[in-house]
Amino acid sequence: ILVPVVLCGGSGTRLWPRSRATKPKPFLPLVGDTTLFRATLERCPATEGFGAPVVVTGTAHIEHVEDQLENREGVQIIVEPCARNTAAAITLAALRLPEDAIMLVCPSDHHIGDTKAFAQAACAAAELAEQGWLVSFGIEATAPETGFGYLKRGEAIGDQAYRTAQFVEKPDLERAKSFLAEGVYAWNGGIFAFKVGDFLKEMKAHRPQILAAVRKAVDQGHSDGHRFHPDAQAFAAVDSESVDYAVMENTGRAAMVPADMAWSDIGNWQALHVARDRDEQGNATRGDVELVDCRNVLVDSDGPKVSVIGLEDVFVVVDGNDIMITTAAGAQKVGKLSGAVNQ
Ligand code: GDD
Ligand code: MG
Repeated sequence: ILVPVVLCGGSGTRLWPRSRATKPKPFLPLVGDTTLFRATLERCPATEGFGAPVVVTGTAHIEHVEDQLENREGVQIIVEPCARNTAAAITLAALRLPEDAIMLVCPSDHHIGDTKAFAQAACAAAELAEQGWLVSFGIEATAPETGFGYLKRGEAIGDQAYRTAQFVEKPDLERAKSFLAEGVYAWNGGIFAFKVGDFLKEMKAHRPQILAAVRKAVDQGHSDGHRFHPDAQAFAAVDSESVDYAVMENTGRAAMVPADMAWSDIGNWQALHVARDRDEQGNATRGDVELVDCRNVLVDSDGPKVSVIGLEDVFVVVDGNDIMITTAAGAQKVGKLSGAVNQ
């Protein structure tokens, strides 16, 4: 069985003021009317042969998670006493599953427009994982983004997958540009498939300290119904590192499945503008909004009526007492606003 391991970690400050520390990105209906977290679970239904999901999240988000589980049967929630990044989060889940289970690691802060393509890629990835590969989902790279990992396409494995000849996490702009120019690199979509035992073997080979520290936290942890609590003191001692640096850059068994599934990490308001339904002028509005002569604007208000005339490529977001207005180019900097920093 393919076990969805849903990661619900950090908060997205770049979508302030809608996304806040108290209600971060995964739990908001950012695209369509379902939340990113719900959509992540819905992409892995029991009816399609997925096993009961494991959700790994922090104490701060546990209530949102439980609210949005929608009676999914057999869910296990692992509650992190503090955040120690994805290598530790995935190891926690691995240590709570049988060695021969296949994990499908799913970040809960992405939008995937084409769920059918996702299901196909998940199926192909599971087959490869069964053969001992550590599989990433490859997304066609369309810009020299420095916030993503890059997968270099190696020799073909079967007819829908490749060896990952090189995995480079978050290159600098120069390297990202050269990767794009070479044309044989894809973005790492952040979704992974591997057999529990294989993942733990790689952790043992490349990050034995993290593995040992997480194992200790699990051994000393306790269950409380469907929740599992790793020991807080032991878990606090775990090094914080992402799985990309800890395992994916180092393993000799990396493979990739190209996935053309209208993927977006919705990293900022510009990406959200693209993911939302837009009218013929490219405008996306939510709430009480009146537009005159606008093009490519996003206006989203949870209360006051917002009227805009004659603007282009501008985003306006109203949330309670906060109003945020930015050009499309400025959308990258929203996380630096004092409101976003000091929330
Ligand atoms: N439970 C838990 N605990 N989840 C976590 C933690 C943690 O400590 N840290 C991060 N996560 C979750 C995040 O909520 C997100 O869903 C996912 O793990 C990935 O973490 P990010 O912090 O968003 O990673 P990133 O965006 O910088 O980079 C990753 O994703 C990119 C694609 O969006 C990497 O895998 C890149 O290689 C990849 O391109
Ligand atoms: Mg991310």
